[in-house]
Amino acid sequence: MLNRREIIKLGALGSAVLALPVDRVLRATVGEPTAAPSVATPFSVRMPIPAVLRRTGVTANTDHYEIRIREVQAELVPGLLTTVRTYNGEFPGPTIRAFRGRRTIVRQVNELGHNVAVHLHGGHVPPGEDGHPLDVIPPGGSRTYRYPNEQRAASLWYHDHAHHHEAVNVYHGLSGAYLLSDPDEARLRLPSGRYDVPLQIRDARIEEDGTLTYTRASARPHMLVNGKERPFFPVAGRKYRLRLFNHSIDRYLNLGLSDNSEFLQIASDGGLLTAPVSTTAVKISAGERADIVVDFSRFAPGASVYLRNSDALSTENADVLRFDIGAGVVDRSRVPAHLADIPPLPVATVSRSFVLDLDPERNMHVINGQGYDSARVDVSTRLGTTEIWSIRNAEAAIPPPNFHVSHNFHTHLAQFRVLDRDGVPPGPAEAGLKDTVFVPPGSTVRIAVTWSGYTGQYVYHCHQLQHSVESMMGTIEITP
Ligand code: C2O
Ligand code: CU
Ligand code: CU
Repeated sequence: MLNRREIIKLGALGSAVLALPVDRVLRATVGEPTAAPSVATPFSVRMPIPAVLRRTGVTANTDHYEIRIREVQAELVPGLLTTVRTYNGEFPGPTIRAFRGRRTIVRQVNELGHNVAVHLHGGHVPPGEDGHPLDVIPPGGSRTYRYPNEQRAASLWYHDHAHHHEAVNVYHGLSGAYLLSDPDEARLRLPSGRYDVPLQIRDARIEEDGTLTYTRASARPHMLVNGKERPFFPVAGRKYRLRLFNHSIDRYLNLGLSDNSEFLQIASDGGLLTAPVSTTAVKISAGERADIVVDFSRFAPGASVYLRNSDALSTENADVLRFDIGAGVVDRSRVPAHLADIPPLPVATVSRSFVLDLDPERNMHVINGQGYDSARVDVSTRLGTTEIWSIRNAEAAIPPPNFHVSHNFHTHLAQFRVLDRDGVPPGPAEAGLKDTVFVPPGSTVRIAVTWSGYTGQYVYHCHQLQHSVESMMGTIEITP
């Protein structure tokens, strides 16, 4: 049963979308979930590893690329063709490998019939390169983005950000991994090469004719890993670095292994943690990343273990990926006890608070009572300032899974630090650099953020993308 609040929300979705150019698709978000289409035998297809994008040019300190953004048909489920929106015809997009100290330049050509904007999520980039929601590439247009890559190694990602289109565009496939490495990380001898694998996870609803339906999380029973519904992945009996990306538009994942065994988390959004964290679960909300190392040598060859989402709905298959363990191989990789130094936090001189809420009057998701207005600057600060932001989800606490009342919070430009959740300091897995943080109903999260590097306007927003579409987004202006 839906409670009153949820009914208001569904109504909100219904009326908010009328104003949007994508209303035909979005109207499907209203109404009861229908039965899960039975489209696939789970774990019957091998998980692909997205190809690394090939350079179109190279100079002493720069790698050049070109991407065509276009619609294609892809086989997300064996035997069915699904129309998806892609970078270079690939779902998910090709992986971009970047190196600290070398610039990456990507020319993006929009071959779709509507606006796009390409944002490098987690990237420390000038405002003109950020893929701001209103700085769009029109149909038929192109745009060259320049990424300085002056930040530490991290699992970043690129995705669409055209205002009002971002949720539908990302849902239909416009996302890809951007793996930035650096010499400090390389020196550690973590699992690398074919043993360093991105797992880009997203939910979906695929109808029996292959149509990908844009609808709410509770009606999206399918789970895609690297573009395939519940695939299997043959692994050797050794250590793997698995880079978990939550590319769902609004669903959080609580990922662990089906035998409940421990693995190591080594990185979060902004790169390596100070030390590996032994854990049985990582919870990542939409847009967050976690790099883990799993040692498959402790399984017998021929055994299988699943990657399991323990916050799946009770009506869903909680397993998202099956690892099939093969023979052991020589493994010279290591996971050192000390991974990286995280810079000390400068003293904060400014505090601000942000309340994430639904305005039932105007039927909009808002921050501090206001919907996004690109003409308004919500936060103005000076370059170099360190601030404490207190972010509260005004919804009443209800137990997970609670996709409809959860929010998260993402800032462009900066990697921040989580200070506390409801007054309690974060565990070690959340104590590294972050660009997106989960804010469950009833909770307050405090972060510390330093606005450095570039002046200009950037956005911050809820990364449950239907919420940012509905205007849970604000503008920060950084002045010299
Ligand atoms: Cu991942 Cu403003 O976005
Ligand atoms: Cu971002
Ligand atoms: Cu939200």
